[in-house]
Amino acid sequence: MSVMPADAHLPVAHLRPSRNWINDPNGLAFHDGHYHVCFQYNPYGPEHANMHWGHFRSPDLISWEELPPALAPMPGGEDADGCFSGNAVSDGDRMIAFYSAFRTDRWAQPVTTAESRDNGVTWTQRGSLLIPELPDGTTMYRDPYVWREAGRWRMLVGSALADGRAAALLYESGHLEQWEYRGPFLDRAPQPVAPGADTGLGWECPQYLHADGRGAVILSAWDPELGPRRTVVYTGREQDGRFLAAAPALLDHGPDFYAPALLPAPDGRWLLWGWSWEARDPAWVREAGWAGLLTLPREVTLAEDGSVRQRPATELLALRDERAVTASGETAGTVVLGTVGPSFDLTARLEPRAAGTTGGLRLVTSADSAEYLDIKIDPAAGELVVDRDHASLDPRAHGGTYRVPCPEARAVSGAPVELRLVVDRSVAELYLPSGRTLTLRFYPTGGAPWRIEARAGGEGGLGYTVAAWNLRPYTMRYASDVSAEPALTDVSGVLR
Ligand code: FRU
Repeated sequence: MSVMPADAHLPVAHLRPSRNWINDPNGLAFHDGHYHVCFQYNPYGPEHANMHWGHFRSPDLISWEELPPALAPMPGGEDADGCFSGNAVSDGDRMIAFYSAFRTDRWAQPVTTAESRDNGVTWTQRGSLLIPELPDGTTMYRDPYVWREAGRWRMLVGSALADGRAAALLYESGHLEQWEYRGPFLDRAPQPVAPGADTGLGWECPQYLHADGRGAVILSAWDPELGPRRTVVYTGREQDGRFLAAAPALLDHGPDFYAPALLPAPDGRWLLWGWSWEARDPAWVREAGWAGLLTLPREVTLAEDGSVRQRPATELLALRDERAVTASGETAGTVVLGTVGPSFDLTARLEPRAAGTTGGLRLVTSADSAEYLDIKIDPAAGELVVDRDHASLDPRAHGGTYRVPCPEARAVSGAPVELRLVVDRSVAELYLPSGRTLTLRFYPTGGAPWRIEARAGGEGGLGYTVAAWNLRPYTMRYASDVSAEPALTDVSGVLR
């Protein structure tokens, strides 16, 4: 049943198989009482190759079961070199997956399908392409996203256009078989979205969230030379097959978040999982034998002010184990708040007492205090800064400082800075009450328990109220556990 990983960086409350490479979440659907979460998966090694769809399912987002890979490349077929990304829908008693058929001898990854009649346990791949023709002027084309709306099926496909625009192309269908092309739902030349980041020349994995006449289009910004960049979101509303959008925003402010996908839950919530890639050198990845993980499931909402807000799915509160830290007070220097295990969920309220107060929280992960991850208030910029420059004593881990807007951090705001931080061995997800998030990977070399400190710098003191809970692992039944169940007794000899 649940297996504690021997590898200190392997997460226990984030989805991924125990070995090998994964990337994008795929095929997200609620069907037969289960959340189905598939993902890009190479069952043979820790590098991006041989893309299958790995598959987990859960009735409650807490206890998971690994199913056999849903899709595998078919030798000589349209998807011979990989079953690339896409989603899935529940349609009566069947599930249908829409995905990108990859072959190295063609530039586009056209749409094909697979169908399951046994609630996702086994799948039959179509073999042929669902939509063989590509619209004129496309130079990149992949990643279908299908949803049902107003009595018809609709699909977005990610694309780049020869004139330099990125586009999410819209199709419609009555019965999921014949699809009519309606033109670009949204298209843009690259637009700036944050310092040093833009919306990209091509869009991968378009996703569409809609509620009460408003919507959000989530896009993974891609560059033909640099590859995956950042994830961006446009909010607005649809008018006759075109999405009228406001200015774009980053969906996540961290460096290690990409290709998120949506799951419309039966209770009306929109859930989202993203891919968090590695931030360590390839040689270390090869040594570890695994790469990539899926983020926590997040509830995504559209706020009145047009922003998109994310927070961990409520169900995850059930993973909180004993309370590890309870601390409140004030410091003008450094104070140790307590210790945590390597997977924990922390909430904090920080109150800088003077306009020039800096500081924040430090997670110390080595006995000599030389290894730490910092979350710092920048009162001049009105931002929180996550600094991983000292987060690993191993030089093969990547560093960098990353910023997320936090107006309360501004010197004059007078409002407390509130945050929630979920750490799971080598991944940190920071959630702010504004709905902004920052996801990054880090690779502590020191064993737990780890220390949480509050630190104040500059003038004045820092008030703090901090709580942290150690996290229980997901309950996970691996596919190998299933096949390891005792074989049925051979009774052929007695049943004559
Ligand atoms: C995004 C992506 C998709 C593609 C898949 C291949 O990370 O490049 O566009 O379908 O991954 O694994």
